[in-house]
Amino acid sequence: VGSRAPLADDEQPTSDLRPRVVVKNAAEICVPQPDGRGVDRLKKHALAIADGAVTWLGPESALPASESEGSEVFDAEGYAVLPALVDCHTHLVYGGDRVLDFVRRAKGMSYTEIAAEGGGIHTTVRATRSASDEDLFETAHERLLLRRAHGIATTEIKSGYGLSIKDELRMLEVIEALRHAGFDLESTLLAAHTVPKDIERDAYVGQIIDVLIPSVAERRLARFVDVFVEKGAYTLEEARRIFEAGKKHGLLSRIHADQLTAGGGAELAASIGAVSADHLEHISDQGIDDLARAHVVGTLLPGALTYLGEESQRLGRRLVDRGVEIAVATDENPGTSPTSNLPLMATLACARMGLDADEALRAITLGAAHALGRDDIGTLKVGAKGAFLLIEHADSRALVASYGEPIICDTYGF
Ligand code: NIG
Ligand code: FE
Repeated sequence: VGSRAPLADDEQPTSDLRPRVVVKNAAEICVPQPDGRGVDRLKKHALAIADGAVTWLGPESALPASESEGSEVFDAEGYAVLPALVDCHTHLVYGGDRVLDFVRRAKGMSYTEIAAEGGGIHTTVRATRSASDEDLFETAHERLLLRRAHGIATTEIKSGYGLSIKDELRMLEVIEALRHAGFDLESTLLAAHTVPKDIERDAYVGQIIDVLIPSVAERRLARFVDVFVEKGAYTLEEARRIFEAGKKHGLLSRIHADQLTAGGGAELAASIGAVSADHLEHISDQGIDDLARAHVVGTLLPGALTYLGEESQRLGRRLVDRGVEIAVATDENPGTSPTSNLPLMATLACARMGLDADEALRAITLGAAHALGRDDIGTLKVGAKGAFLLIEHADSRALVASYGEPIICDTYGF
């Protein structure tokens, strides 16, 4: 039993300065299965990292001298070691808050009713447009720092609270500045989040296709383009046009699909070869089979489900059993999921969506990496990014069982 305590919310890990380490005395090292559904929990194994990448993983008794010479020992003290977590779906750059939306929902109003009255996403659009670049940077920077205590080393962030050429670009520029501040970030153009009130619908879709996508691609401000396909947001036909324009400019597709109603978003994701289809609470059986066949990752967002007071009919179980690879993400945003606690999302994916603990661990590591089109993060295989976390328990699954309580006691390589 070790002598470590969980990290405080904004505590910086101390171990980052060591360029070469060998991790010893781990109760187990958790390695997600590349093609399977769960994780392997390797006992009596050691892990070597040099210059930010994993160089060796194997039985501690077989550790070659070439790996240990000149390396510092990271003593895991009988605890479990896991890959650094990946959060593949957030909207964490925004102004203001949505406390009053929550208050209204708690009195029985629905998300759709609040949005129809001009609340919802539009509230955050107004607050984001009127926030300065510095404000947007500072508030998002604080949110990103909190994530280290939750074990998250890589975060995807979407635009979508600008809804104009200028403000969508501004959001992506803030994300770019945060990347320069040292965070591992992926960015997504979600200009088609909801329909702006100050421009005609077709004209705005035209701006997304003719102006935003080309300039975002040229300036490399995003790798992905996303569309919220929903009644009251964008139609399948508009989404298809936006994704095709994105593809022409080298942007990969991801989609908010079937969140509030069944709208054929999953089927569209499969037909255009999206990397990820997200939410899916109202997905059809056809949609599930299409995602499996087209190898689109299904991203579960149990935080939004829970915060909106909805049910999932064991969505995770249905997807996994029909062969869809899954990820679990926070969806951090002020309206439907104001949380950065990804381990808690894994707990909820089990309790409310029917995953088992091994599936949930894979979904917040390698599954999430695959939802971002990456296989160099979310795992500890040789060649992967050398970033891991240590939990105050011998069993990796304790991270999922911990119900969001602090259990991560050290991180390395963040
Ligand atoms: O993923 N569904 C659309 N977008 C967000 C919510 C954004 C908001 O309400 O501000 C989501 O849940
Ligand atoms: Fe979202």
